[in-house]
Amino acid sequence: MSEMYDVVIIGGGPGGYNCAIRAGQLGLKTAIIEARGTLGGTCLNVGCIPSKALLHASEAFESASHHFKSLGVDVAGVKLNLPQMMAQKDEVVDGLTKGIEFLMKKNKVTYIKGFGRIISKGKVAVDFESATTELATKNIVIATGSEVMPLPNIVIDEEKIISSTGALKLGAVPKSMVVIGAGVIGLELGSVWRRLGAEVTIIEFLDRITPGIDGEIAKALQRTLTKQGMKFELGQKVTSAIASKKGVTLTYEPAAGGDAKTFDTDVVLVAIGRRPFTSKLGLENVGIEVDKRGFIAHNHWKTSADGIWVIGDVTHGPMLAHKAEEEGLAVAECIAGLAGHMDYDIIPAVVYTNPEVAAVGKTEEELKAAGVEYKIGKFQFMANSRARTNHTTDGLVKILEDKATLKILGVHMMGTGVGEMIGEAALAMAFGASAEDIARTCHAHPTMSEAIKEAAKAVDGWVMQS
Ligand code: FAD
Ligand code: NAI
Repeated sequence: MSEMYDVVIIGGGPGGYNCAIRAGQLGLKTAIIEARGTLGGTCLNVGCIPSKALLHASEAFESASHHFKSLGVDVAGVKLNLPQMMAQKDEVVDGLTKGIEFLMKKNKVTYIKGFGRIISKGKVAVDFESATTELATKNIVIATGSEVMPLPNIVIDEEKIISSTGALKLGAVPKSMVVIGAGVIGLELGSVWRRLGAEVTIIEFLDRITPGIDGEIAKALQRTLTKQGMKFELGQKVTSAIASKKGVTLTYEPAAGGDAKTFDTDVVLVAIGRRPFTSKLGLENVGIEVDKRGFIAHNHWKTSADGIWVIGDVTHGPMLAHKAEEEGLAVAECIAGLAGHMDYDIIPAVVYTNPEVAAVGKTEEELKAAGVEYKIGKFQFMANSRARTNHTTDGLVKILEDKATLKILGVHMMGTGVGEMIGEAALAMAFGASAEDIARTCHAHPTMSEAIKEAAKAVDGWVMQS
């Protein structure tokens, strides 16, 4: 053990690498430890990036196969080249993970490959191949992320019974796929394989899809995905999945009780959530405990152990890359003696189906449960000229405003490309805007974002749509 670091970060995902970059920029002597061999964490390697690469490519395939003709573009003999689709996805991942490695060098961060263990406050061991090195540091940041949540009695073999990781690299399009869980992963990766030709059935425990998303938007999304050919079995509990040479036999029963049914399918994707990853991290050496669900608690990102901080999926809050990133920046600033902060009420979320769903702030259900009085404004894309031009009229924008303070409390949208529009709503909320502030801001015409302006007008009763 030689030099003393200001901060050693365990985990090279969006939480860890953004924390490292900011710490480096602030002049802190920083090291980042990553076990998987490449930086970027779940997000870049087996999450956000490869899934979006496949969503983009599969959408192009579907458009060329079914939608170009109506635009007057005749393309004969559209064929899927799955190896090329996977190769372009791998190329994107490779380029981005290497880019992060370059950013470490640029910001004078030491990147250490290996598995990090906390030995004591201020001491971290790194196991790499058969060697162990020790680092001394003033601060440790735990950024170890999350892993796939398994389903009891179901063995994920990543061939016939797969997790999201297996769903990003199937070698052939299955004839049929059952997805367990109608959450974000289920709908995004289910969409990819449906577009490529699989018959996709989603089995969900609850009586709705996408828990956490505004109920009205979730219903609209389910209607649209059903029209696209996705099948839903809601309120069902899967009790077993047995893989054989032929495929997988799944048994499930109504969550409320009732007769069991079986379902034969080629591939089963288990997408029932993720859980924090702290295995072999040495938390017991510093007296840090995890809660019942495995998360490490914090107070302003400080754990119960002095000089040890926590960020990202391994702690509470939505498991989103940009939430991990913001926490990483804030912690680096706190360690450097600055006032790192983040607003947990303004974390946007996007479901990258087509149409997309994008949301920020409170849902209508949350406001009702909290007894907050609110005003509501909605606008359907059917009446938006850009949506009409592009034949992307499915969806709506919904704005919720506090009746007393006139602050926007939530914005919820479904529509093509709304993931790119939610930033406007988040920014408005960050500056404490009212719906009228948005309504009086000039929006370019014709754009999909005019629907936000129209929904904002509707909050104050300037209704343009019948
Ligand atoms: P991670 O990204 O999980 O990184 C943690 C890293 O720590 C890992 O690389 C791991 O190998 C390493 N590690 C763990 N323990 C140790 C140790 N002891 N020593 C050394 N290294 C260790 N989020 C979005 O916002 N948008 C999306 O579109 C999106 N899409 C997703 C799609 C899929 C299929 C999945 C699975 C997730 C998706 N997410 C998305 C979620 C997103 O990936 C996570 O929220 C994000 O990666 C969390 O960042 P993190 O830094 O906390 O952890
Ligand atoms: P999720 O929490 O979004 O959805 C899991 C779904 O599975 C829920 O609807 C839940 O009710 C259901 N479920 C749980 N147990 C079940 C069971 N036994 N049988 C049937 N259904 C069951 O989790 P998901 O989709 O696995 O994603 C994990 C995390 O990754 C999420 O927290 C999400 O934030 C993040 N992610 C984000 C993306 C994005 O931002 N676009 C994309 C993909 C993942």
